[in-house]
Amino acid sequence: MSDPLAISEESVSAAVDAALAAIAGADDSASLKSARSAHVGESSTLSRLNATLRDVAKENKAAAGKLMGQARGRVAQALASREAEIEAREDEERLAREFVDVTALPSRARVGARHPLSLLQERIADVFVGMGWEVAEGPELESEWFNFDALNFAPDHPARAMQDTFFIDPVESHLVLRTHTSPVQVRSLLERELPVYVIAPGRVYRTDELDATHTPVFMQVEGIAIDKGLTMAHLRGTLEHFARAMFGEGARIRLRPNYFPFTEPSAEMDVWQPHAKGGPRWVEWGGCGMVNPNVLLAAGIDPDEYQGFAFGMGIERTLQFRTDLNDMRDMVEGDIRFSQQFGMVV
Ligand code: PHE
Repeated sequence: MSDPLAISEESVSAAVDAALAAIAGADDSASLKSARSAHVGESSTLSRLNATLRDVAKENKAAAGKLMGQARGRVAQALASREAEIEAREDEERLAREFVDVTALPSRARVGARHPLSLLQERIADVFVGMGWEVAEGPELESEWFNFDALNFAPDHPARAMQDTFFIDPVESHLVLRTHTSPVQVRSLLERELPVYVIAPGRVYRTDELDATHTPVFMQVEGIAIDKGLTMAHLRGTLEHFARAMFGEGARIRLRPNYFPFTEPSAEMDVWQPHAKGGPRWVEWGGCGMVNPNVLLAAGIDPDEYQGFAFGMGIERTLQFRTDLNDMRDMVEGDIRFSQQFGMVV
């Protein structure tokens, strides 16, 4: 048995074979690193054999040196090429792991969008702001005085009855959920300097069941203009401008006599919709009239000096007519697919 630490063809080729086997068996950079230190490191067989060169007899030194050189060269080459292979494969794996699909859609948080009713409410306000009017608000929980008394409703007026009005407990609080936006007429007159040109959109409540044409909560827009010398002609012109802004250039309005306690004379207003789906038609759009002197008096205004007009209409109805919607419930149920039909991107 030859001394493993003496340079011989066998000992060197055994060391080389062991090294090559370890190198070939390494399948990642960590195991290649340990193969390298085991087979070419300082304490490896090859290094130790190499170290014995100095003890080799002079005449054998060249041959032994050549043997060792070739052996170390083969191992170094095998290491280098295995290293290149492993590096290439590991690079590929890392690239695959870090792959970013730049064409992929990012995951988006839904930001929500405005409801068509809110947008219409703003559009309406814009039409009037464009004529120099101001936007006003009033509370939805309203005192009976603003909702009825100041608007000239007699104490026994049927509109106060239980079937229309949500009264608030206790009854002595004299609070109601406002049944219309008209209390904002009186609030605006009390809060502002004359002349007053105010538009007041907002929510109102009535004790109706929810069905295709009724909802217990809906929106109205109220208008009131008080100035010197305002007449029914100003009312007509204003409403006709509004109708055109809502229903297109060919829209017209028609007034039919009616009764409201807070206007005199009062009218029901119809609008001619030139572009309705089933063909042009008249539809009932809202109420209007010249502000009753009693309302002006309730707000401390001298009716001989100032006069004006008021009107109010439903925003849901306006949206319905503009878009040929049949069922009011679609507007209040909050299904996102409803809003999307109006081009909302959610
Ligand atoms: N407030 C009335 C209603 O709800 C509408 C209206 C407003 C009528 C202003 C005349 C003037 O039916």
